[in-house]
Amino acid sequence: MTFARRLTSASSVLVVVVAVAGCRGQTSAEPPIVPFRGMHEMPRYDAQEHSGYFEDGRTMRPEIEGTVSREMEIDPQVGTGLDADGSYVLSVPTAVVERSGGLETLLRRGHQRYDIYCAPCHSEVGDGNGMVSQRAASLGVTFAAANLMDPAFQHMPDGRLFLTISNGVRTMPAYRAQIPVQDRWAIVAYVRALQVSRGDAAVAIADTDNDQLPAGADGCPEQPEDRDGFQDLDGCPEADNDADGIDDAADACPLSAGTAGLSGCAGTVAIDPADPLNIRLGANIRFENGRDVLKDESLAILDEIRAFLVAHPEVTRIAIEGHTDDRGDAAVNQALSERRARVVMQWLVQRGVSGERIQSAGFGSARPRGDNTTREGRQANRRVELHVVPPAVEADAAAPAGAAAAGGV
Ligand code: HEC
Repeated sequence: MTFARRLTSASSVLVVVVAVAGCRGQTSAEPPIVPFRGMHEMPRYDAQEHSGYFEDGRTMRPEIEGTVSREMEIDPQVGTGLDADGSYVLSVPTAVVERSGGLETLLRRGHQRYDIYCAPCHSEVGDGNGMVSQRAASLGVTFAAANLMDPAFQHMPDGRLFLTISNGVRTMPAYRAQIPVQDRWAIVAYVRALQVSRGDAAVAIADTDNDQLPAGADGCPEQPEDRDGFQDLDGCPEADNDADGIDDAADACPLSAGTAGLSGCAGTVAIDPADPLNIRLGANIRFENGRDVLKDESLAILDEIRAFLVAHPEVTRIAIEGHTDDRGDAAVNQALSERRARVVMQWLVQRGVSGERIQSAGFGSARPRGDNTTREGRQANRRVELHVVPPAVEADAAAPAGAAAAGGV
C-alpha cells in the first residue's frame, strides 16, 4: 500500500470517528448531510407554512374546482362509492366489472387481494379470526376484526363496504392509500361471493354453469341464468317470469301477467278514447322514494308500454313526462322529474324500442293534476305521463327556427 493510500484510508477512518463522535450531544436544526447548500438554502415554503402571496394565506393550494388530477377516478360512483344523492351505491358498479373484463376475473383478483389485505385480520373464510386477531387475543389486547359473515355486514350496501375499506372504521385502519380503487371494488365483489358461499373461496369464485355468476352467488349453479331482465341476479332461469301460464318465449308481455287472448299481455296500456294524444296507463310507474330508481312493481306496466309500442307502429313518437308533488325544493323536484322520465325512456330503449320514437321531459311540480294539500292529491301528482307526439308537431319542431319566425311575421 502506498503512503498516499494509507493516509487516505487513515483519514477516512478519522472522518467517520469525528463525524460520529462530533454528533453526540449536540443539537442542530440542519439536516445531517447537505451536499448542495444552495438547494437547501434557496427560498421555499415548508408544508403548512403561512404565505403572504395568496389571499387566503395558504401555501398548500387546494384543488382548483373543475380540474381533474391525473390519478383521480372520473366515474363518481366508482370513485366515491356514493350515488349522486349521497346514498351508498347498492351494488358494485357495472363499470368496474367491465373494466376488469367480466365478473370472474374481478372475483379472482378480489380473492387474491382479499387474502393479502384482509385475511390477516378477518381470516380467509371471513370469520374475523385471522392471525392478527388471534395474536391480539393471546396478548390480551382488544382487537377483534369483524365477522364478515354476520348478517349485518351481508346487508350492508356495497358502497358502504367500499368506503369501509377506503377509510377504515374505528380500530380498523384505512386502506385507501395501499389498495387502488379498482382493487377495492374487486375485494367488495369477492367479500359478497364469500358471504353467499359461507366462506368457501372455491365455491365463491367458480362459475360452473358459465352464466357470469359465481357459484357462491348462484341459486342454480348447474343451470345458466336466462338474462331477460327478470331476476337476472339469482342465477336461476325463469321459464315464465310473470307466472301467467304462457311461456316467456310465446309471451308478448313476459313481465306482466296477461291472458292468452292478448298474447300474454293484460292490455292495461291504450290510447285514451276521449283524447287520442293521451296514452292511458292502467297503473302508475313507481319509483323509490325521492330517487330515480324504478320499483320492481313497475316492471309489469313498463312491459305493457313496451308491448303497446311494438303493437302500434303508427304511434311514431311518444313523449314521456315526469311530474312530482310540490313538497320539497322546486329545483330538486324539477331535476328528479327529468331523471325519472329519462329512466323510463332508457328502460324502453334498452328493451328494443327505438330511441327515435321517444322523447322525455320533466315538469317538477309545475303541472299538478290533484290537490297538493291532500295526501291523495299529492299521490296523483307524483306520476309519469305518456303522450302521443303527432307527426305534424314533430315536423314543426324539426322546421328551422327562421321559417317559423317568418311565418309569424
Ligand atoms: C389490521 C387488521 C384489519 C385488516 C387488515 C382489515 N380489517 Fe376490517 N376490521 C378490523 C377490525 C379490528 C374491525 C372492527 C372495528 C371495530 O368495530 O372497532 C374491522 C371491521 C370491518 C368491517 C365492519 C365495519 C363496520 O361497519 O362495523 C368490515 C366490513 C371490514 N372490516 C372489512 C375489511 C376488508 C374488506 C378488509 C380488506 C381490505 C379489511 N377489513 C381489513 C381489522 C382489520
